[in-house]
Amino acid sequence: MTYDYSETIDYLLDWFDLNARILAWRENPKPYYVWISEIMLQQTRVEAVKGYFDRFITALPDIKALAEVDEDRLMKLWEGLGYYNRARSLQKAASIVMEEFHGELPADYEQLLSLPGIGSYTAGAIGSIAFGLPVPAVDGNVLRVLKRVAGSFDDITKEKVKKELEKDLLMIMPKDRPGDYNQSLMELGATICIPNGKPLCDKCPIMHLCKAFHQDLTDQIPVKPKKKARVVEEKTVFVFEYKKKYAIRKRVEKGLLHGLWELPNVPETFSYDKVQDNMLQWNLECELVTKMKESKHIFSHREWHMTGYYIRLNKLEQLPFDNVIWADKEELNKVYSLPTAFEAYKGMWK
Ligand code: ADE
Repeated sequence: MTYDYSETIDYLLDWFDLNARILAWRENPKPYYVWISEIMLQQTRVEAVKGYFDRFITALPDIKALAEVDEDRLMKLWEGLGYYNRARSLQKAASIVMEEFHGELPADYEQLLSLPGIGSYTAGAIGSIAFGLPVPAVDGNVLRVLKRVAGSFDDITKEKVKKELEKDLLMIMPKDRPGDYNQSLMELGATICIPNGKPLCDKCPIMHLCKAFHQDLTDQIPVKPKKKARVVEEKTVFVFEYKKKYAIRKRVEKGLLHGLWELPNVPETFSYDKVQDNMLQWNLECELVTKMKESKHIFSHREWHMTGYYIRLNKLEQLPFDNVIWADKEELNKVYSLPTAFEAYKGMWK
């Protein structure tokens, strides 16, 4: 054991009893609900997840419904949450659960871990919260809290550091309330022992056990080497309209946002004059060309800097993009999922 965290347990459980936020998946911690919420929470804050969770569960109330839903509907339910592969993995895992586990998530850490999209954190969260298994669930919040407690300068981006912490926690997990202990650590990390800026140490139930607090190191711990700068990509995005229908295309190219719909775009910034020249070159007869606002979207490793043009066509012509369809407002709102990256250009139908 590299560090003994057992003293934190009672303080955190008492604190959690008084301070846990009331959340749908906590009120009714069915394995399916815990699974969906934990996947949504991986890159998204609790407040933002609440609405998505309710909508998702209403549309797909059980694992069978998730396994059977068609891809566009699934993507539409995920629209706005980002990292769409999470939704695809959920569906793959749901099919496996239907075929191999009689439609029920397995109450077993290793079997959970074998499912697509379920890593050690998620297997630990589902195992402990839904099934009461004494297994840890270590995410970034938990790493931050416990490395501060230990006063450790370990680099928390290293897999080895996470594995070590998982081992340390496995030795001390409280058998009666493993899910609550895991959630108390996450909750403390999300609300008190926060990243960037000053944690709220005077409200912390384990302040007296925390080396980073006593040694005034909370601005140095956790250690997390700077990420590489994101690649900036310029784009010109087109909102083509013809008779109240709008052109969208499917991203068949492998990689970012694969399989989702997008607005036609080119990988450079066009001036207004350049757009007009292109319309001639592309043989498009326009009734109106207007510049829309500029916008920026930040992905984990990339940034898109976009300029938009609204182009109303006089005649329906073939656009110089692959996989284009024309969709009306209703379809754009209900059927096709356009990633949040295009939010600034959805004003015509939203
Ligand atoms: N973040 C991710 N999962 C969580 C949970 N179950 N409770 C609090 N914060 C979380």
